[in-house]
Amino acid sequence: MSEHLYYPINDFGPLMKGLVIGGLAITHVFLAMFAIGGGMLMCYFQWLSQDGRCKHTRRFIDGYFRVLVLVSFVVGAVTGVALWFTSIQVSAPTIGMMVDQFHWIWAIEWTFFSLEITAGYCFYRYGTNLNDRTRLTLLGIYSLASWFSLFWINGILTWQLTPGAWVENGSVWSGMFNAGFFPSVIFRTVTAMTVASLAGCVVINAMPGLTREERTELINRAAHFLAPMLLMPLLGIWYFGTFPPDARALVLGANVPMMMFMGLAIGASLLIGVYAILGLLRKKLYINGATATLLLVLSFAAVAGGEFVREGVRKPYTIRGALYSNSVTPEEIEHLRQVGCVTDDPYPLQNPEDYPNDQLRLGAKVFRFHCSVCHTVKGANALTHLAGSWSTTQKRMNIAQLQRTKTFMPPFAGTPEELEALVQFISWHTGDAPAKWPESSDEKTLQQIRDWLDEVGTKPGIELELHAEQGGGE
Ligand code: HEC
Repeated sequence: MSEHLYYPINDFGPLMKGLVIGGLAITHVFLAMFAIGGGMLMCYFQWLSQDGRCKHTRRFIDGYFRVLVLVSFVVGAVTGVALWFTSIQVSAPTIGMMVDQFHWIWAIEWTFFSLEITAGYCFYRYGTNLNDRTRLTLLGIYSLASWFSLFWINGILTWQLTPGAWVENGSVWSGMFNAGFFPSVIFRTVTAMTVASLAGCVVINAMPGLTREERTELINRAAHFLAPMLLMPLLGIWYFGTFPPDARALVLGANVPMMMFMGLAIGASLLIGVYAILGLLRKKLYINGATATLLLVLSFAAVAGGEFVREGVRKPYTIRGALYSNSVTPEEIEHLRQVGCVTDDPYPLQNPEDYPNDQLRLGAKVFRFHCSVCHTVKGANALTHLAGSWSTTQKRMNIAQLQRTKTFMPPFAGTPEELEALVQFISWHTGDAPAKWPESSDEKTLQQIRDWLDEVGTKPGIELELHAEQGGGE
């Protein structure tokens, strides 16, 4: 049994860590989608302008759109770095495992990203002076490189939810080309085209000096990129079908927020899709700036909903079957139940003097180690709200059997003493943190907690449920 490695964990106050990461991730993904789809759209428009099919496409490319794509890849890159920066403060072991398993994939991804940046910047800087062929080549390189950086990252992201054979054989390629890989990469490509098309419509509306006919023509061209949306229902079902059954169950009703986010993603996409198909493609309608902006906002909502679901259904894992969200591995639980989860945690509390006694200080550390990745004390998803009305005995039992309380929580990985300290910590906070608080140290209580821990075992809640369903729950 290797020892648990401790990393400092940052505290974002009342903000739940998942929300901080989620917010950044959504912004990043949306901008990245736009950068990828934007490159493709510029390629298409460049091709149209060379062929003389559409005279004004070149103005579109050399106008705002080129700048927008540049801004999106710069801001996209910055939010990407910010995302890594926050993630390592929340779960260094998750990032560690990703880097450890996939360093060559990251290296390949990075190479494509560098190519994307170089080609994109060259086009931005010199594009207007170049001949058509060179322009198209540069845009082609930019688009392909950005799409391939999505391709490689997509493998690692989908691996987190459906690592498949990797869990047994540890092979990089099994991890990379997991069950979710292809549906996800195609789905994301279609999303990228949709976002770029809608952003294109906004820009075309804002371009000065075009007649209505010219605008309509450009808009109809940009709307071609909405056509692949027709595939979304099929792609969505294919992708969803690769989710593990318990993850699917969360979305299908077991978890209200997950269901709502999925609803948001589907509803928003449906609205865009219906408008696109009916309005733009069939009737070749004109789409004004306000409508285009509204549709673009809807596409952001759809991306946001989808990303929340993707991150949410992984619970209790960050890497399914291999690492729990709180950075504990499934194999470690038994060991940590013996030696304690914070016994060797070298990082001091931020304000140890705030607590009236050592047991509460211990509880604070257990909370930080074990729960803080998904809960706050008093802010979002707060333990004082969720467990505030429970009796002390209920708290002890439900936390001891955490994976049974909610299957998307990991099993408790600490000693009965640590669990009792955590219960006192929650009760103390629920009681508005009085200056005096007695330590509890009743041997019978600890024994009862130990019995509950032993009874539920160290398996994840998902497996307990499956076991019970198969009639083995005696
Ligand atoms: C992987 C993320 C995750 C971790 C780690 C986690 N929880 Fe939770 N927990 C959740 C989510 C999500 C909910 C659902 C909240 C809701 O229903 O609004 C929840 C619900 C709860 C509830 C309410 C349960 C109910 O039946 O109403 C309690 C109490 C709770 N958690 C305590 C804890 C404690 C104590 C820890 C640490 C020992 C912990 N959780 C660790 C994600 C987590």
